[in-house]
Amino acid sequence: MSPIKPIYASFRSIGAYAPEKILSNADLEKMVDTTDEWILKRTGIKERHIAAADEYTSDMAAKACELAIERSGIAKNKIDLVLCATVTPDYFNMPSTACIISDKIGIRNVQAFDISAACSGFVYLLSIAKAFIESGMKQNVLIVGAEKFSSIVDYTDRSTCILFGDGAGAAIISATSNKEEGFIDLHASADGSYADLLITPAPGAIHPASQHVIDTGLNFVQMKGNEIFKLAVKTLTNDVKEILAKNEINPEDIPHFIPHQANYRIIKAVGDALKMKDEQVVLTVGKYGNTSAASIPMAINDIWESGRLQTGELMLLDTFGGGLTWASALLPFAGQAINK
Ligand code: UT7
Repeated sequence: MSPIKPIYASFRSIGAYAPEKILSNADLEKMVDTTDEWILKRTGIKERHIAAADEYTSDMAAKACELAIERSGIAKNKIDLVLCATVTPDYFNMPSTACIISDKIGIRNVQAFDISAACSGFVYLLSIAKAFIESGMKQNVLIVGAEKFSSIVDYTDRSTCILFGDGAGAAIISATSNKEEGFIDLHASADGSYADLLITPAPGAIHPASQHVIDTGLNFVQMKGNEIFKLAVKTLTNDVKEILAKNEINPEDIPHFIPHQANYRIIKAVGDALKMKDEQVVLTVGKYGNTSAASIPMAINDIWESGRLQTGELMLLDTFGGGLTWASALLPFAGQAINK
């Protein structure tokens, strides 16, 4: 009997979408008591993209998915799992946004579901895709992080409305027998005792939709920004140090460190702690703001489209978000590079 060949999960393609409308710091100056200078200095954000009133999470996700599928060269009928990470689903209860996306892109009769892990959603999806593929259950998994964060932001609250933007990023994760193409390592974790640091209290079983919810703004995101900031720097730095040490990889050998794009100061602090050079660290927070589950795939798409991401190059992903959740991943880009 011949031995069973191991199967690995590989990152085959990337696609992303940012809505057309731009909300600049100058626009926000007219809406709340803030300044372009404060926002830039404290967050590094210059502008963010905002979806149109009739453009939903599934619409943005479908556009990103179409690109990722086309760039993978894999036929739609070979995709056997569709996963969406979002905290701004089209519908809060049902159906899942993954089901709606599948319908919009013409993939039917395959398993589809959503996960909720806030900003860590995309890396959580990578862990789920990996498990499905390496167990032999699925071959080609379409994953997408998508958010219409503007639908839960209170545009009179200066502590949150300056940060968030809308968008989507998708990838195809496929089975391979070539170990060189496979994910190297992935770590995902959570600590629910910090749940109140980043929360959208309603609608949900605790606060079902009601006039009270509307009157008190419980349907908007609430954040203890400063506490999250400190936890984020500590957790992200430790997480990255751990995954690199475990795999005996030096920070200087990482061509693309792609952290969650929440705040330039968080990214800089983590990059500095690892003694990374600026050119190793991918930065898109200035133009997209924090797009939650879409942030990392949108950043990967940026370096792919600019020709910076080459086949076989190592990516180090690192994220942190509501829950609290956090995750990191080390993996090569196993798709085709763009020739620039
Ligand atoms: O996606 C994952 C989860 N989210 C994050 O990772 C976000 C993490 N947190 C942050 O990025 C930062 O904490 C913020 C950008 C949200 C805030 O920056 P900060 O340096 O932590 O400011 P702070 O909350 O300590 O507030 C400092 C001051 C306060 O005024 P006083 O009390 O010192 O007079 C705030 O009222 O800045 C004030 N402030 C603002 N001023 C002008 C807060 N927001 C604004 C604003 N414009 N937009």
